[in-house]
Amino acid sequence: MKDFREMKRRGERITALTAYDYPTARLLDESGIDIILVGDSLGMVVLGYQDTTRVTLEEMLHHTRAVVRGVKQALLVADMPIHTYDTPRQAVETAKQFVAAGAQAVKLEGGASHVAHIEAITQAGIPFMAHIGMLPQSVREEGGYRVKGRTQSEADTLIADAHAVERAGAFSVVLEIVIADIARQITNTIGIPTIGIGSGEHCDGQILVTHDLIGLFPWFTPKFVSPEARVADEIRRAVRAFIERTRMGVGTESR
Ligand code: KIV
Repeated sequence: MKDFREMKRRGERITALTAYDYPTARLLDESGIDIILVGDSLGMVVLGYQDTTRVTLEEMLHHTRAVVRGVKQALLVADMPIHTYDTPRQAVETAKQFVAAGAQAVKLEGGASHVAHIEAITQAGIPFMAHIGMLPQSVREEGGYRVKGRTQSEADTLIADAHAVERAGAFSVVLEIVIADIARQITNTIGIPTIGIGSGEHCDGQILVTHDLIGLFPWFTPKFVSPEARVADEIRRAVRAFIERTRMGVGTESR
């Protein structure tokens, strides 16, 4: 496992993207990404659910196994889905299942409220990535994807959460849609790297859902993402070309 704290100390930015299948994982890995996350965002961008709250452990393990086959150099982190870490004991059992599937680290959503869960995982020797700020698994209770850290009390909670997960043994912490100035304050006051998503440029690293980065989920793109490709357009173009040439009876090769 790369020394991510050392990368932070050196000011070397950490890169992270999601993958849910073998070819994507292999492409990201061959491109030199530092961290590949099998995110439960797969519920939306791969399985077509409305949010991540329907994702099951079986689905996550299935996709983790596929991603493992494509990864040689990146750190492979797997997301623990909702209700698979309701107690510290359940958290460790779930984390062990991900390790058995080939993940090198796990992530769950929560800060100070989950210190006992995080300690149980790290004490079992499983590297742990924290996730604070907007927590997609709580989107229903929250009534939407809201920016975090606007009020003083939210900012204080975020800062306390970041310190709590560091003390509990996390090797890094994802900050999801946190006000950039609060993300900067957190980044400057903890020893583990912050990995931002929609949280400004001051984080030690950045993570995105790969489908958003490459334009593979064209029906919704978060405001903070600038896609680098339009893969959905390419797929549509290729499929239309295939339909056209098939209907015209041309281009059907035989062996
Ligand atoms: O599920 C996910 O993909 C995530 C991130 C993008 C941080 O948790």
